[in-house]
Amino acid sequence: MSHTITLLPSNHSFTLEGSTSILETALEKGLNLNYGCTNGKCGKCRAQVKIGKVEKIKHQDFNFTAAEKNKNIILMCTCTATSDLVIEADLANNDIDIPYQEIKAKLKKINSITDYTSIIHLQTPRTNTLRFLAGQNINLIVNNQSACYPIASCPCDDRNLEFHINSKNNSEFSNQLLNNTNTGASIELNGPYGKFKLQETPQMPTIFFVVDSGFAPIKSLIEHAISLDYEEKLILFLFSTHNTKHYYHNLCRSWDDALDNFTYMPITIELKSLNEKYYDLEVHNQNLIINHFLNAVSNKCQSPEQFHYYLSAGKNTIDQMILKLSTKFHTNNIQFDYVPL
Ligand code: FES
Repeated sequence: MSHTITLLPSNHSFTLEGSTSILETALEKGLNLNYGCTNGKCGKCRAQVKIGKVEKIKHQDFNFTAAEKNKNIILMCTCTATSDLVIEADLANNDIDIPYQEIKAKLKKINSITDYTSIIHLQTPRTNTLRFLAGQNINLIVNNQSACYPIASCPCDDRNLEFHINSKNNSEFSNQLLNNTNTGASIELNGPYGKFKLQETPQMPTIFFVVDSGFAPIKSLIEHAISLDYEEKLILFLFSTHNTKHYYHNLCRSWDDALDNFTYMPITIELKSLNEKYYDLEVHNQNLIINHFLNAVSNKCQSPEQFHYYLSAGKNTIDQMILKLSTKFHTNNIQFDYVPL
């Protein structure tokens, strides 16, 4: 049995199958509803039923006031729909709508996938998951060392989190995490931070420019777009500067194969005199990549000025790219995230 849930005032709608909770289904569909504990304690997922019927599927400790009961207020984490529903519930649209959180997660797995990149998988407690917007960063703390990293996974799975750690920069944090931390160890998360987020309304044709481990926040944005059934064109220009395919080449290929609106443009470049200790590309390499990108966009897109651009790379590369993009394509639709390469 399936029911259509319509959210006011945003007018988003989605289908709820079976008897999963309204909150869980909405999050899977990429909708950023307000919530906290996910188990009927905090009351943060309160919503008002305007039309339709719900059924409680979980115990709840939270007590409604008499006024809330009269207004048909429910907890979305403890209720499912038994008919089509219209409910009033606010969506988080900006970083200021997401609360600061401190969560102790567990290290599930470290995958060293290249000489310089490790993929880290963390899992939060079931009752204390992380609310974040796709593209945001979070502070990771392990063995008294901390560093801020982009979250590389989709907010539609708020429990299983992914990070891309670059060991090339040899920071004390990456040393501690990669060499002195075992599976199951506790890692503290503080945050999230950042305004690098997908434009959801209105949707726009979108170009992603990524160099190496700048892929982490872009992966989160693309996975979020997929969960939202984003309909506009998405084009990913993914630069690998290590003379091999990018470490997530196969994932990007699978998106290209599966999604009509997604195009993957892999570009593998062997850079001259790469400074391995530097957090960004050297100037001549920045110019090489930027010129390559601008030419590729001109060849691929008839109206580059109509696209929204998301840039994720080292700071100097991005600063140069913003200048050249706005000059060449007369666009201000640019969002960026500085990611140490
Ligand atoms: S999220 Fe806490 S009560 Fe629903």
